Amino acid sequence: MITVTTVDDIVDLYGARGRLRYGEGVTQVEHAVQCAVLAEASGASDALIVAALLHDVGHLVVHPDETADFSIDDHHELVGAEALADMFGAAVSRPVALHVPAKRYLCAVDRDYFPALSRASQMSLDVQGGAFEPAEAEAFERLSYWREAVALRRFDDGGKSDEAATRHFADFIPMMRRLASQRC
Ligand SMILES: [Fe+2]
Repeated sequence: MITVTTVDDIVDLYGARGRLRYGEGVTQVEHAVQCAVLAEASGASDALIVAALLHDVGHLVVHPDETADFSIDDHHELVGAEALADMFGAAVSRPVALHVPAKRYLCAVDRDYFPALSRASQMSLDVQGGAFEPAEAEAFERLSYWREAVALRRFDDGGKSDEAATRHFADFIPMMRRLASQRC
């Protein structure tokens, strides 16, 4: 397990480990940037853009030397959210913490959602607990930042293109630094 407490730690971690495979034809850093670009294009807040960029940081923290193993649930969303909470606050950490439950929620409320998921995301649903029951979906809608988490989930699902990137992780460093400084 790697400890990250500053934006510099985050930048170093993605610099050192970002080339690890995300597992669906893209690297961790490519996936991160694609999700942030989708968030930006949707008109999301800076906090949600940074959440999109860093939503899988837990994978890099937990699995520093290997790609994620989708056959086990590593609770990467909680590990990542814990690392981000002190640095950026709830507007970043809560959507990150909820991006896996958001998938279970969308599988419950949107019948078109599951069939459109990537094969890896379909396979990991079971180990993540499966689609929510109706009462679980209602409870999810009472959580703070649940809408942001659903939006983040859509960026996550869309950020797996094998086309060449037009943006870079470094492009988002000023935004991360600004958000972190507002937190202090
Ligand atoms: Fe992701």
